[in-house]
Amino acid sequence: MIRECAPGKIILFGEHAVVYGRPALAAPVHGLQACAKISPLPGATSCRIRLRAPVLQLNEYSDSLPEDHPLARVCSLTMEELKISAFESFNISIESTIPASAGLGSGAAVSVAIIRAITRFFNACLDTTRINALAFEIEKIHHGTPSGIDNSVISYAKPILFRRGAKLESFSVRQPFTLLIADTGVKASTSAAVSKVRIAWECDPQEFDNIFDRIALITMKAQHALAEGNLTVLGSLMTDNQALLSEMGVSAPSNELLIQAAAEAGALGAKLSGGGLGGNIIVLPPQDQVQVIHDTLIQAGAAACYQTEVS
Ligand code: PMV
Repeated sequence: MIRECAPGKIILFGEHAVVYGRPALAAPVHGLQACAKISPLPGATSCRIRLRAPVLQLNEYSDSLPEDHPLARVCSLTMEELKISAFESFNISIESTIPASAGLGSGAAVSVAIIRAITRFFNACLDTTRINALAFEIEKIHHGTPSGIDNSVISYAKPILFRRGAKLESFSVRQPFTLLIADTGVKASTSAAVSKVRIAWECDPQEFDNIFDRIALITMKAQHALAEGNLTVLGSLMTDNQALLSEMGVSAPSNELLIQAAAEAGALGAKLSGGGLGGNIIVLPPQDQVQVIHDTLIQAGAAACYQTEVS
């Protein structure tokens, strides 16, 4: 049996602005994983792939799903890429601890895990650039006009500075630190958030370009704060980024409630992470008060709260 996994992700700075060509910083969340297991499917007619994903209540052959179903498409794209057209049928089981529709990259992680598992099952080889390119095709089905940040951070599984069309850069973290990820419990649609911003940008491009430029400046300052290990500055930049996301209209009351609770409990900074309109927030706690802030977030109504290390 073959098993391949991919991590979840958080966007530290720059979501939404990244769709409009500004830089963003993202990091993998190794404590949350999507895994794809492949086993042969004896007895089935050849050339069929059985997809099982209990969390999605899915148990179907890929060729009986619509062509643009993300899981069916990732299988067919990978088989095309590997130039495999005749094969013994096999089974793919997907398990994931990454909450779906929460801005934590669950869709991209499932894609990357499946691409890797199929590649290994056929003893083939695909480099990370190709894996990333295939996962990006699936992100287009999920989100319409994705920037490509989710599939990139998840394919490379390391912290990245992402800018559309530019070479990927990694960023340095002088002092590894713990971040908290708190789930608002409100399912969020990234494509709804992205189109909300697009409509607003089309109505007032000058105002929105200005917001995106200010976010870009914050992202660059954050890159320096990370390189210097200055968590106080980093936290206040998170708060500044959140104010602009709020101005952009993608911060929901569920996000604001948890961010406020974190601030009152002494967090160094907090912001939504990903598309917004619910989903998850990230919180930078003073490093000796991680548990206190974690408990505050749960008391304030977080559906779940995860710890992750950025290093
Ligand atoms: O998939 P999410 O919810 O983590 O959001 C991705 C970040 C956005 O900037 C909102 C969209 C994108 O494609 O970059």
